[in-house]
Amino acid sequence: MVLLMGLLAISTGELFAASGVIRPSDPWLDNRGQRIQAHGGGITVWKGTYYWFGEDRSQSNDPDKRYVACYSSRDLVHWKFRGQVLALTDPENLGPHWVLERPKVYANPRTGKFVMYAHLDDTHYKFARVMIAVSNRIVGPYAYVKDFRPLEEESRDIGQFVDDDGLAYLIFESRPTKGFFLAQLTDDFMNVKKTCFIPAPLEGGALVHVGGLYYVVGSHMTGWRPNPNVYATAPALTGPWTDLKNLAPPEVNNYDSQSTMLLKVTGSRKTTVIFMGDLWRPKELWDSRYFWMPLEIGDGSMHLPPPQPWILNVKTGESAMRVGAK
Ligand code: GAL
Repeated sequence: MVLLMGLLAISTGELFAASGVIRPSDPWLDNRGQRIQAHGGGITVWKGTYYWFGEDRSQSNDPDKRYVACYSSRDLVHWKFRGQVLALTDPENLGPHWVLERPKVYANPRTGKFVMYAHLDDTHYKFARVMIAVSNRIVGPYAYVKDFRPLEEESRDIGQFVDDDGLAYLIFESRPTKGFFLAQLTDDFMNVKKTCFIPAPLEGGALVHVGGLYYVVGSHMTGWRPNPNVYATAPALTGPWTDLKNLAPPEVNNYDSQSTMLLKVTGSRKTTVIFMGDLWRPKELWDSRYFWMPLEIGDGSMHLPPPQPWILNVKTGESAMRVGAK
């Protein structure tokens, strides 16, 4: 069964009356009218609210610190700024231009703690570790606890996945192994254990479980420069994984975006899977944009449509291209 086919083309409709429009690549403003700073981000669902965490690259930031911002929303369109939930001073003497990227927050139902993972590195990307910061509240503040190499492996880009059974996973790219790992978090979320290694050197790893299949997405290793993102599927997280296929025709270069997360919105009528990507502007990272589009997904195939304004109803799970909308 194809879960999401032929995204309905509608211009208006009662169904979507209450929803707003998502416009890939346009500046996305928060409740203060300021640009959302949540690059390389992830979404945590907590008590019916979505929390978007990501790299805060504001120009006004202290250049010696690294920041993670948090925003909350009930509809995935309108976002309330909840603060810079992490403002970290170089924890390991990594030196100027040290790196904290792709933060992801997991809510631990056993401990009641919120656990943030992020990629921690020096300017040459040689440190290659994950950092953990913890808070008692989802909106922080988060306190740095430790950094380490998951499974004793180098770790750069990370991704986040929480399965339907509530188990939480870290996805991490590990260059020397020429591939990436899916690793279940331990009970306290303070470490990981190996679930699967996928022998494909991919960054921006993201996963979704839909229609009885797992779909993993990633980009090739071209730094900030976009490339055709690819996906594979498997009946279980441990595999076997199919060969990689393109998410969009290779010539469109993933519409210049890079994957950061796949977000499943299951409503009363449908399931929409959102491709969350970044449109990086490496010289002006603060001005990087977001590329969120609903995927055509089902039967083991996945397709990223061209960017256009679209609408989403998180209650019904329906999404539609918004024809005629600017
Ligand atoms: C990308 C990665 C980004 C950032 C960048 C630095 O491949 O996905 O998160 O690390 O490289 O060049």
